Amino acid sequence: MSNKTAILSIDGIKDSIELPVLEGNIGPNVIDVGGLTAKGYFTYDPGFMSTASCESKITFIDGDEGVLLHRGYPIEQLAEKSDYLETCYLLLNGELPDVTEKARFENDIRYHTMVHEQLCQFFKGFPMNAHPMAIMVGVVGALSAFYHDSLDITKEEDRRISAHRLIAKMPTIAAMCYKHAIGQPFMYPRNDFGFAENFLHMMFSTPCEAPNVSPVLAKAMDTIFLLHADHEQNASTSTVRLAGSTGANPFACISAGIAALWGPAHGGANEAVLNMLYEIKDESRIDEYIKRAKDKNDPFRLMGFGHRVYKNFDPRAKVMRKICDEVLADLGLDNDPLFKIARRLEKIALEDEYFIERKLYPNVDFYSGIILKAIGIPTSMFTVIFAVGRTPGWISHWNEMISNSYKIGRPRQLYRGHAKRNYPH
Ligand code: CMC
Repeated sequence: MSNKTAILSIDGIKDSIELPVLEGNIGPNVIDVGGLTAKGYFTYDPGFMSTASCESKITFIDGDEGVLLHRGYPIEQLAEKSDYLETCYLLLNGELPDVTEKARFENDIRYHTMVHEQLCQFFKGFPMNAHPMAIMVGVVGALSAFYHDSLDITKEEDRRISAHRLIAKMPTIAAMCYKHAIGQPFMYPRNDFGFAENFLHMMFSTPCEAPNVSPVLAKAMDTIFLLHADHEQNASTSTVRLAGSTGANPFACISAGIAALWGPAHGGANEAVLNMLYEIKDESRIDEYIKRAKDKNDPFRLMGFGHRVYKNFDPRAKVMRKICDEVLADLGLDNDPLFKIARRLEKIALEDEYFIERKLYPNVDFYSGIILKAIGIPTSMFTVIFAVGRTPGWISHWNEMISNSYKIGRPRQLYRGHAKRNYPH
């Protein structure tokens, strides 16, 4: 804590309240308003634009400077030098693993990739045209039914095993959602494959045929997971923390996070990007859509543009853009009409006053949507892939909260409804 204080003066100096100012290691200082309740006041901050909901040591974002650090390491360096599983270890444990720790962690994850055979029956209850996120919310929450042995959240070892199970099983469940939708048999995970390669195997192999996964695509998939691994107190992570603050088990909490991620303003944006490109259909119609995006009376927004926190550029989008070029070149899709629309849209928006003034840049989901589509992943699976990538972030935040002292989350409100009144008659 710093020695600084903030003075809140309400109704003149007589009613002034002294509030402690907490100093972050980097980033803005924070006024501790916890004592206000005792004085008869709440703070009001819809959307939590000015509210720090917790103390954390995991991820730091400076939206104005386009900085994203995981445990202090810049995302660009992790994307270039690390890989997804190592980044998971870093998020969970606070430090990069040494060679032995890394091998042990990879082995732990590999050992947990299979799901209980009985879980496969759950899928039969879902219609084939169910949205895969609907299945994910249900099936991930249902995992808790299988692990009564390790759900004591007060035990560090139970929390560790749950974390490993979740990171390992999410790609398996995600691929099962896809196979269910297209009526193909589920593919068992392969322990001799890396994390991303294994996911692509479970998605695209059948018992009759196992297409070779190109190293460029496997690397792109791994980087997509890595770039989504954590993003501080976003809507889904805050949901996981809030659910966890009640003492709920980690599978239920991650399921709540998946539900929050689903919305088009959050993880659903990559799917919305592709749906928008399909709707635009032809380069000649781009101007019409740009015009609509600028029209205050039209609810249409350019999907994949803008970010709640990044008001300069999204550092993940820079990395993703490069990978996007590599993947399109690897697959010979440079001249595909859909991707040409995407590139024109990106160029126009980057040069247009409306977008420049409002600092609306292409975000990570603009490029990840294009890459996933090029790899052959259907749009309905895009948010599921975001959920797979985000799992270590969700668990790291949940674990950080549970390992320290915490209170049940319980926001207050500004009540503007009726005062007490009597029931008529
Ligand atoms: N297209 C057109 N105009 C936009 C857009 C857009 N995509 N985004 C914001 N604006 C305008 C908005 O109309 C407003 O204009 P004005 O000041 O004239 O009223 C101004 O820009 C500020 O908008 P805002 O809604 O106050 O900005 P926000 O920070 O609350 O919203 C956002 C951030 C991401 C919800 C929004 O930019 C958006 O809806 N983008 C499209 C959806 C999207 O791509 N979401 C993915 C976010 S990244 C993935 C993740 O982290 O989950």
